[in-house]
Amino acid sequence: MAKFNLNINGKERELDVDPTTPMLWVLRDHIKLVGTKYGCGIAQCGACTVHLDGTAVRSCQLPISSVGDKEITTIEGLSEKGDHPVQQAWLEVDVPQCGYCQAGQIMTASALLEKNPNPSDEEIETAMNGNICRCGTYTRIKKAVKIAANSINA
Ligand code: FES
Ligand code: FES
Repeated sequence: MAKFNLNINGKERELDVDPTTPMLWVLRDHIKLVGTKYGCGIAQCGACTVHLDGTAVRSCQLPISSVGDKEITTIEGLSEKGDHPVQQAWLEVDVPQCGYCQAGQIMTASALLEKNPNPSDEEIETAMNGNICRCGTYTRIKKAVKIAANSINA
C-alpha cells in the first residue's frame, strides 16, 4: 500500500492503496464514483474513459501510481449540472439505448471537442472509433457530436 494525493473532479483526495491499482477501481471502489464503467479491463472498449489533464484516457489501464498531480475528470465532474454541450446534445438526440457505454462515449467526445471544436466527419469517426457500443448507437453519437460542436462554436 502507498499514499496518494489525487485531484479528482476538482477535489483533493487522499488514498492509501496498492500503487498498481487501476484508476477505474480507485474511482469506483474507493471514491464511489460509479459513473465510469468497467467493460473489458484491457483498454479495448472505452467504457472506462476519463480525462487526465483534459485528454481522454482508459482508466482500466491507468495505474494510480502514474497519475501524479494531473487532474482527473470523470463523467460526474464534466459539468456541475449535467449541462455540458456534449451532455445537452446527447439529450437532444436521445443517444443512449442501455446506457452502459455512454459515460465513456461522452468523455471521449468532450475531450475531442476541447482540442478540436470543429471536427470533420472523419475526425469524429477517428476519435470515437475505440469506444464500443453493443447497442449500436453510433449514428446518434456522430449526430450528437456535431450538434455539440455547433453549439460550442455558436
Ligand atoms: S474497461 Fe477500459 S477500455 Fe474497456
Ligand atoms: S448504449 Fe448500450 S452499450 Fe452503448
